[in-house]
Amino acid sequence: MLYRAHLLSPDGSARLKEFADGGLLVDEAGRIVDAGAFEALEAAHPGAEVMDLRPHWILPGLIDLHSHLPQFECVALDGLELMPWLETHIFPAEARFRDSEVAARAARDYFRSQLALGTTTSVAYLTVHPEAADRAFREAERCGIRAVLGKVMMDMHAPEALLEDTGASLRQSEELCETWHGRDGGRLRYAFTPRFAPVCSGELMAGLARAAQRHGAYIQTHISESVGEIERVRELFPEAADYTAVYAAAGMLGPRTLLGHGIHLSRSEREVIRESGATIVHCPRSNEFIKSGIMPLRRWLSEGLSVGLATDVGGGPKLDMWGEMAAACNASKTRWALQRLQGLRLDGVEGLDGELRTRIALALDLDQDDPVTPVEAFHLATLHGARALGLEAETGSLDPGKDADFIVVDPRRVDPAASRAVEPAEEMLSRLLYRSDPAMIRATYVRGRRCHALGA
Ligand code: GUN
Ligand code: ZN
Repeated sequence: MLYRAHLLSPDGSARLKEFADGGLLVDEAGRIVDAGAFEALEAAHPGAEVMDLRPHWILPGLIDLHSHLPQFECVALDGLELMPWLETHIFPAEARFRDSEVAARAARDYFRSQLALGTTTSVAYLTVHPEAADRAFREAERCGIRAVLGKVMMDMHAPEALLEDTGASLRQSEELCETWHGRDGGRLRYAFTPRFAPVCSGELMAGLARAAQRHGAYIQTHISESVGEIERVRELFPEAADYTAVYAAAGMLGPRTLLGHGIHLSRSEREVIRESGATIVHCPRSNEFIKSGIMPLRRWLSEGLSVGLATDVGGGPKLDMWGEMAAACNASKTRWALQRLQGLRLDGVEGLDGELRTRIALALDLDQDDPVTPVEAFHLATLHGARALGLEAETGSLDPGKDADFIVVDPRRVDPAASRAVEPAEEMLSRLLYRSDPAMIRATYVRGRRCHALGA
């Protein structure tokens, strides 16, 4: 099928690739054969059936690199910081997944919602229950989404209803990995999912790191999200130099490791993570909602860390990656403005000499980093996510050779002046982020299969 629309894709170097009257040729296997100017494609492939989608735009599907499927039903409960929020709201909600029918229903709603919002790759935490995990995979298999999922592991300091035996947790996770990792030509993959160090023993973490290595599977966990959490890790692992050292000692850090949040990492921790090739997953709305902090996104990027973007539902209130991209830009702007304000305050202190001022500015992290732009946020939500998963050859842009994971977007839903002929791509992208509306997603395709159609 040759789709005719306005094509917009990340180019891999923080710019956009665009064809105002574009064509996307997709073969029977769901792979992108060609992408470019429509006239040229039509001439090169004269027999191709054309589907004219104008005035809609085609963009690559979005990659949500970290979220919690069982928390979808208890989002947006405000008031608590991470550790008490988990105890009060999250653990009771996850305990309900011992009933696999509850789990199956939740998974169906969750993936359907993601597809309707334009997310084509879903990386998610499940609960400790292996049957519930199996049902979630089956739902992902059925609905067509690309998914990396994992049964949560916790063998220490968890509530009774969710506490696991170390050996059973490892065995059940490995069985799920054997069943699902690489299924359907790699559309479904497994992530070993130790929740975070405060609820995992060293033995569990070392065991799962070995299992992930054996199977070429992912590891996903949380790191350095809140100050209370970091203090807890210090109490539980007094021998470790810092939080990152706990995971490093277990052998958990590598290019297939996804570390949620990473807001408060020290310089030396960042260096260890960068060298390991692991990815920091930025979840700005969750960070704001549970008062965790504002990640220095620009700094992490300029240091060469691999960074992806995610909703972190239910810490984040919504599954929509458009709003998450806007939140990443806004969090970055807030940080920038605060730094500038603090700099001005320092300038106002009488007698603060050059060298002392420099040292204070360094201690307070006051460098004037430019805020992150919508085009950069779009890269985080597409190509960077694909790279973090080692799936750059499969998804994350509209380049030929990749699977046809794309969305059809109606620009008129977000542009009050939609009567204008053609909007510059960067302006349109900015509007899509800041004014996102679920009704702008007309259709979502994964590997060429239409998995969502508005109103269908
Ligand atoms: N850290 C450990 N578990 C969780 C969770 O479920 N959500 C968030 N945001 N952080 C966590
Ligand atoms: Zn999370």
